[in-house]
Amino acid sequence: MEVVIAPAEELAKLAADTIEAKLRENPAAVLGLATGSSPLKVYDELARRHAEDGLSFAEAKAFMLDEYVGIDADHPERYRNVIETEIASRVDFAPGAVNGPDGLAEDLVAACADYERAIESAGGVDVQLLGIGTDGHIAFNEPGSSLASRTRIKTLTAQTREDNARFFEDDLDQVPQHCLTQGLATIMSAKHLVLLATGKGKAEAVHQLVEGPISAMWPGTIMQMHPHATVLVDEAAASRL
Ligand code: GLP
Repeated sequence: MEVVIAPAEELAKLAADTIEAKLRENPAAVLGLATGSSPLKVYDELARRHAEDGLSFAEAKAFMLDEYVGIDADHPERYRNVIETEIASRVDFAPGAVNGPDGLAEDLVAACADYERAIESAGGVDVQLLGIGTDGHIAFNEPGSSLASRTRIKTLTAQTREDNARFFEDDLDQVPQHCLTQGLATIMSAKHLVLLATGKGKAEAVHQLVEGPISAMWPGTIMQMHPHATVLVDEAAASRL
């Protein structure tokens, strides 16, 4: 595991460099996209490079990590809509190239299995962007998630719902209770994991991720087993290392 400590703007550029290098090497690369605030500067940087440096996503595919269940199709916080706003609509992905778990499906179990198959038939994810929750969750794999898990339905913890209430007018009642999320084993199948974390609130999660014992209680710790994992953190998030 490679840990880089740098200011947030620098971290976003480093993550964008990784994605750009992959796309230049293989324009049909498969990217793993994350939601949350952590990757936003990366998306800004990729959109800038698309506009100014001709970085193209036209042949690429993308898979999102997770999605809320029980949220309106046009809700701005539905992760598919967030990804559309923050990155997909700002670059040149082909129609249908960006995929996410279908949190609106009637049969959610089948939707999870379909999603696993879609990732596999695309050849797997080449570069997976990740954030981390204050409780150590990655995607929506909350503490206690099986380290061998694949895409499935999960219940959000009280902590995550509180953390995410800021996206729902600070109204906890509006925050969904359930989600579909890639499992930890799904995420571990990606060829390169790039996790971003900034701010003091992430210091404990980053400490556990990098230095703690591998445990389902800190789901991010599974990344210690990955052959190619990069952890990009600012001074505050690195303050407990
Ligand atoms: C959500 C997402 C995660 C993300 C986490 C941290 O729960 N499902 O993928 O890593 O939030 O979010 P932020 O980057 O806003 O701190």
